[in-house]
Amino acid sequence: MREKQDCLAKMESVTTLLYLGLFLSAWSITTADENFVPKAENVHWVSLDFKTILSWTTKPSDYTYSVLYSMDDGDWSESPDCNRISETNCDLSAHLMPLDRMYSADIQTEPAEFDYNSNVEDLPHTYSPQFNPYRESNISAVEFSVEATNDSKVIVSIKDPVTTLHDAYGKQLSIRDILQKDLKYKISYYKSGSTGKRDIISDSSVANVSKLDSGQSYCFMVAAFIPSRPKATQLGTWSTQQCTYVQGGNVLQDLRLETWVGVAFILLTVLIITITVTVLCCRCRQQRNRTFQTSQSSVPV
Ligand SMILES: *[C@@H]1O[C@H](CO)[C@@H](O)[C@H](O)[C@H]1NC(C)=O
Ligand SMILES: *[C@@H]1O[C@H](CO)[C@@H](O)[C@H](O)[C@H]1NC(C)=O
Repeated sequence: MREKQDCLAKMESVTTLLYLGLFLSAWSITTADENFVPKAENVHWVSLDFKTILSWTTKPSDYTYSVLYSMDDGDWSESPDCNRISETNCDLSAHLMPLDRMYSADIQTEPAEFDYNSNVEDLPHTYSPQFNPYRESNISAVEFSVEATNDSKVIVSIKDPVTTLHDAYGKQLSIRDILQKDLKYKISYYKSGSTGKRDIISDSSVANVSKLDSGQSYCFMVAAFIPSRPKATQLGTWSTQQCTYVQGGNVLQDLRLETWVGVAFILLTVLIITITVTVLCCRCRQQRNRTFQTSQSSVPV
């Protein structure tokens, strides 16, 4: 009986300690929150087909963020769509014009409700890395079709990906409208069942792949390729592959040099054998005739 009471008393004190602990930690969290002003962290650019979004992370709070941006280290402009926002990203695509410039952004922490007592100058802000959309925006995988012609060729027709940008007349721009002569396509293909891959680079969106073996299947993959860019951002995402069967047009025309050499070699061998056999036979017959004549003349009947 006594032991049981002791035990209960002990349990009670443990529980009290636990509550005290919980209370203390809760109190310390609340006081920390009061002084805590969150700052934009991990600021980075995410850009696909020239749609460029500034993105960051932060700790949950009542504070909001305003985004400023500047071109080539010039003056800072406010982004009207990203003023005192609680989201942690900002689509700056419409403001990063012209595209081939170096842009920076600055993300400022602001109180949710404007507090005239607080000193805005003291609030933290974070600069973004620099970004050039023309040179660094990723290019998505392209759509394309393949068509085999009757002369051992395949025509690859590529659809230039469209962007979210529009020109002054409201026409939606494709990546070709933006990159123009800088845009090439890399076409990678292989003969079905073989491991060797071949690459060609096409200046235009329609490419002819020739000198294919007829009567074979070929598979093709395409990616945007911008050789004027830094190495790391030259190649767009590879498309999924498309395969097609290459028809035999004129079979004699399609024969390769090796085949012709083989045919010539066989013909030559046959010719040599024929000549040799003919010569040998003739000699044999001549000899037999001579022996016959000799025996005829030497043996009088
Ligand atoms: C482009 O894509 C690569 C690979 O997915 C990624 O690591 C990079 O952050 C992207 N760059 C931009 C600017 O979105
Ligand atoms: C290939 O087709 C075109 C028209 O479709 C035709 O004019 C041409 O003669 C054909 N060539 C061969 C080698 O069959």
